[in-house]
Amino acid sequence: MPVPHRFRNIKCLEDLEDPAESYLPWALWEFASTGTEKNVSRDGNRRAFDDIWLQPRVLKDVSKRSIARNLFDKTYAMPFGIPPMGASAVFGFEADLNFARAARAANIPFVMSGSALVPMEKVAEANPDVWFQAYVEANRESIGQLADRVWKTGIRNLVITVDVPVPGNRAANYRRGFEYPMRPNLKILLDGLLHPRWLTGTFMRTLLASGMPHIENYGTLERIPIISAKVKQRSHVRDALDWEDIKWLRDKWKGKLLLKGVLSPEDTKTAAKAGLDGIFVSNHGGRMLDTAVPPLKVLPEIAAEKGEMAILFDGGVRRGLDVVKALALGADFVFVGRPFLYAAALGQEQGIRHVIELLASEVDRTIAQLGCCDFEDIGDRLVQPSK
Ligand SMILES: Cc1cc2nc3c(=O)[nH]c(=O)nc-3n(C[C@H](O)[C@H](O)[C@H](O)COP(=O)(O)O)c2cc1C
Repeated sequence: MPVPHRFRNIKCLEDLEDPAESYLPWALWEFASTGTEKNVSRDGNRRAFDDIWLQPRVLKDVSKRSIARNLFDKTYAMPFGIPPMGASAVFGFEADLNFARAARAANIPFVMSGSALVPMEKVAEANPDVWFQAYVEANRESIGQLADRVWKTGIRNLVITVDVPVPGNRAANYRRGFEYPMRPNLKILLDGLLHPRWLTGTFMRTLLASGMPHIENYGTLERIPIISAKVKQRSHVRDALDWEDIKWLRDKWKGKLLLKGVLSPEDTKTAAKAGLDGIFVSNHGGRMLDTAVPPLKVLPEIAAEKGEMAILFDGGVRRGLDVVKALALGADFVFVGRPFLYAAALGQEQGIRHVIELLASEVDRTIAQLGCCDFEDIGDRLVQPSK
């Protein structure tokens, strides 16, 4: 696929930020780019990578290297994937479908969000290997209904996000008049009108192609319009969810079952004992509890307790270097959030593919410069704190 014109100067993932900020309405830009409260966790996630030093080895003949990575009996072409991001389709035209298509073409994992605006059945058609992330209520009937629907769709990797017992505190978003779902209001209307490229390139195009987007995947087949004067904000009923619900789901779900949002070795041990297949070590990109520890800082102690589980990592990964550092510290796989959302907004499938290629070439360059042919020895290239 040719590089989209708008991407000719996108030479690293951070280069997406300025164009995304000017393309998107302020409310959407803030919703995606900020964390919660004072953004301490969001910023800490990035800074944590700069505390890790690498010690390359030389003359290792790295000419036959590979960045492929095995996960759950599958070999992916790259060690990174796209994590769940709700409401993506209001950022970029058909964003969820484009994530699915680009991930399939590049052979990397994509986890569709339970808050996505496209039915899971349509996304699975575009990419039968898609994973599904669910926000579940402490109500086994509704968890069961959702799990049955996911299974019927043919999806086999189910991720339960567990770091949102109640929503994060997003004062900046509320000030802009942004809610999810949204009541029409003057601020949002003006915001949209002042961003005509988004208005025509994403919003109007979506309305013309498939009508008003709906939240489609909250368990039952009830569809919730993203913008409606009548819509009631859903009161969150996840605060009663506990390990017993997860164990119950483990017994029921025959595919891979993962938790997303684990930050402690104790919870890791419990997850391993409960028979989970994997956990995402994640603070939700700093979008939930502000000052929640950057996942990179606790990754080694969590990886030490993983048992048979896979350790998946996200939060602040912006460079191939970061991917390699997370793998070196014990992650089995790494996920990159916001940059893919910006790429989907600015360049649809081509944009996402461009970002995948950029990141892959950075990972490849990093292992070569470390004197490694794959990820086997990268743990030895970390400077230990005692040095
Ligand atoms: C706009 C946006 C929406 C998100 N929606 C979800 C979601 O629906 N479910 C979920 O588990 N995580 C969600 N996340 C968190 C991501 O899955 C991921 O943990 C985070 O973005 C990783 O941090 P990074 O953006 O710094 O790479 C969302 C993140 C963003 C930016």
